Amino acid sequence: MLAEERTFVAIKPDGVQRGLIGDVLTRFERKGFKIMGMKLIQVSDEQAASHYAEHKGKPFYPRLIKYIQSGPVVVMVIKGYGVVDSVRHIVGATNPVNADVGTIRADFAQVMEYNVIHASDSLASAEREIAIYFNEDEIFDTWKTKTEELIEEDELL
Ligand code: CMP
Repeated sequence: MLAEERTFVAIKPDGVQRGLIGDVLTRFERKGFKIMGMKLIQVSDEQAASHYAEHKGKPFYPRLIKYIQSGPVVVMVIKGYGVVDSVRHIVGATNPVNADVGTIRADFAQVMEYNVIHASDSLASAEREIAIYFNEDEIFDTWKTKTEELIEEDELL
């Protein structure tokens, strides 16, 4: 029995300013995931505080808030099979020094403070973070990916 999930991804200001939007998107598209929602936004004070609430009080929190608001970010909702864990693998460890070769952070980042991308760490975080940045009418599930077609034809659902 296979079930799809949704996750939340943000290309942070350093990723946008370094021209990495296309490279990052390509990794998710070629995996066959569905980009259900996507927009370029300036993160508000409320969104930043809500997104990073769990880090409030930590030494790096003020810098984290400043960083995420330092320029536009690309936020997206991605759907697929095992997408939460799969995207985390494609993104790599929080500290790029420890990220596996071939991951986004290993390939494009050097330090944790500027690590190009954020991805939700659980299904619960994904739904919470999607709600911070998206209205449901900005998320589209009106077409099938090839993987979805194959799985549905095969009645693996
Ligand atoms: P992200 O996946 O967006 O979640 C929290 C972010 O805090 C993390 O990526 C890093 O960009 C940032 N950060 C900065 N310093 C630290 C730290 N010492 N430990 C963890 N995260 C940090």
